[in-house]
Amino acid sequence: MAQRTFSIIKPDAVRKGHTGAVLAEIEKAGFQIVAIKKQSISRAQAEGFYHVHKERPFFGELTQFMSTGPIVLMVLEKANAIADLRKLMGATNPANAEEGTIRKKFAGSIQENAIHGSDGDETAAFEIGYWFAGYELI
Ligand code: CMP
Repeated sequence: MAQRTFSIIKPDAVRKGHTGAVLAEIEKAGFQIVAIKKQSISRAQAEGFYHVHKERPFFGELTQFMSTGPIVLMVLEKANAIADLRKLMGATNPANAEEGTIRKKFAGSIQENAIHGSDGDETAAFEIGYWFAGYELI
């Protein structure tokens, strides 16, 4: 059964001109792009999105970084979408990412790591609803 997940192409990858290449990897892996939009986000929007990390030492830097330039927000669909996207992305720290993964190819550091993907069912539901209205997901 098809499952939906949420993904962001982060400001580092957009800035470096990797948007098209990352989208190609996603489509090649069998994901349908249900919804997509490019926008710059405020620090406050980033803080709300990453609220589960608010006690982490990197929260300030992370939310600052996410508001440094345009990002690409997406809802993706396929069977096993959440786990399959995380596999396609590779490890959070690109130094540990497997060959062939998006982070291995395009990420520069643990913070500037090119792409985000939801880590579970509940997170995906929250993240999709945070950025997209129901009418954008038809
Ligand atoms: P993401 O999948 O978007 O979820 C949380 C983000 O926090 C993660 O990707 C990284 O970009 C960032 N992150 C996680 N751990 C660290 C860390 N130790 N230092 C800086 N940023 C981190």
